[in-house]
Amino acid sequence: MLTYDVLIVGSGGAGLYAALKSRIEEDLQVAVLTKVYPTRSHTSAAQGGVNAALANKDSTDTWEQHWFDTVKGSDYLADQEAAELMCREAPEVIREMEHWGCPFDRTKAGKIAQRPFGGASKPRACYAEDKIGHVMLHTLYEQGLRHGVNYFNEWVTLSLIHNGQRCLGVNALNTRTGQLHTIQAKAVILATGGYGRVYWNRTSNAYGNTGDGAALAYRAGLPLKDMEFVQFHPTGLRRTGILMSEGARGEGAYLLNALGERFMSRYAPDKMELAPRDLISRAIETEVREGRGGPDAEVFLDLTHLGMERILQRLPQIRQLCIGFEGIDPIEEPIPIKPTAHYSMGGIHTDINGLSPIEGIYAAGESGCVSVHGANRLGGNSLLDILVFGRRAGNHALEYARQNDFQPMITNPLATAEARIQKLMDGESQERTADIRREMGNLMAEKAGIYRVAADLKQAVAGLAELKVRFKRLKVRDKSKIFNTELVAALELENMLDVAEVISQGALERVESRGAHYREDFPKRDDKNWLKHTMATKGSDDRPILDFKPVTISRFQPEERTY
Ligand code: FUM
Repeated sequence: MLTYDVLIVGSGGAGLYAALKSRIEEDLQVAVLTKVYPTRSHTSAAQGGVNAALANKDSTDTWEQHWFDTVKGSDYLADQEAAELMCREAPEVIREMEHWGCPFDRTKAGKIAQRPFGGASKPRACYAEDKIGHVMLHTLYEQGLRHGVNYFNEWVTLSLIHNGQRCLGVNALNTRTGQLHTIQAKAVILATGGYGRVYWNRTSNAYGNTGDGAALAYRAGLPLKDMEFVQFHPTGLRRTGILMSEGARGEGAYLLNALGERFMSRYAPDKMELAPRDLISRAIETEVREGRGGPDAEVFLDLTHLGMERILQRLPQIRQLCIGFEGIDPIEEPIPIKPTAHYSMGGIHTDINGLSPIEGIYAAGESGCVSVHGANRLGGNSLLDILVFGRRAGNHALEYARQNDFQPMITNPLATAEARIQKLMDGESQERTADIRREMGNLMAEKAGIYRVAADLKQAVAGLAELKVRFKRLKVRDKSKIFNTELVAALELENMLDVAEVISQGALERVESRGAHYREDFPKRDDKNWLKHTMATKGSDDRPILDFKPVTISRFQPEERTY
């Protein structure tokens, strides 16, 4: 049996940051287990920036202002102590990244450059052209190699193992050989990213963002928090949903409807295109519903007035994506866009150190929910979250592993993982993963998307229950052991179905509108009854059981959110 003191599942920014932190101490065995190659993790898709109130000489920004913007942006659902911690620690983690070689763009004075972002009262997103996630991920990976982090690339985690009180390790599939393994670990940090792919065809997320960590935790009896809050980024490329960075609007791009109007003046007259994402995505949907969208239900992101030089210097990646995936050059013409499922505010319930209710099991980054983003995340706070809470989880797990011995392993730990794979191989029907996955994605986009209403959400819940029944009969036709991608896709679908069910059930029960969760039948925020987190655990009938938990409010009393 493989044995590590700390095992990190997932190799995006949170996982690699936690690994690096654990490894720099050099006294413990640490490994990263990832279903992709680390530099292909979804962090690399982040474009526009990472927030920190750096207090450069020419700026009047403060961490307190960042804290307030974050809490207001969250529609007051963020736990304020956690958000405070994130904003306070932001300058330190950015400087740490800088010292590790992260190539941030610079001001003329040589300081880290910062651009405006949605919902922020000051320009505070540190950037590197429009590729900040890519350069951060590579910086962390290179430092990990330097410090001897062990990587298990292309391994799929199948289950968490614990004894009810403490973490024991995981079961995983090495997709290169088809072998199943138990890896014993004193601490496991889940850093598997979000669940945007439950909206299969309408997302900016990588194909791998299938809510694996959330599903593993849920099946292991851990609570998922606030899963109904799914962020739609306003500007996804029309056909593919690929991200067109908020950095474009930070540089001055306009949003236009099919009549050529800058329609945000109707919805956020002060902030216009730099209002928060929940508000802009709803504004776009409203323009389209009221007949002011294009023939494919799109509106337009116009960069043409920025000029070629600025676009090539600051936004070269999105230009290439437009040329490659939409056949248009944004130097010449506006980009057709639609809101796209982008970020999972919900996730595995943790405390401020990333610790779940079971000792030794942690979650960090998008797979966790501390919660710092509440009902709506501000752009640039996700990359910050992975650094701050990746570091905290890494440090805490390390200390826990130092102070505790390995626990005795359960008998035959692989048994349930083997049975799960065998069942998929022996399935009785001709059901195909791709069909169920497409139906799930359409159901979620149509019934549990930007605008929600009880009748639709009930259909989503019922439809998902049917899809789960069909999934139970699914048969994996490819019997090969090596790189069996059909098997991996089936495992991912099983994860997404569980996650989608929790999202829909939470959205149905939350009878108010807050942040990204907008109920047309309950259009007002209801602090009296709903200023609380949703906690979902898996019931014995395989359905989610919902409970609620108070929000921590330390300084900012909820008030109406206007921009
Ligand atoms: O628009 C963007 O560049 C995305 C940033 C984010 O999600 O934080």
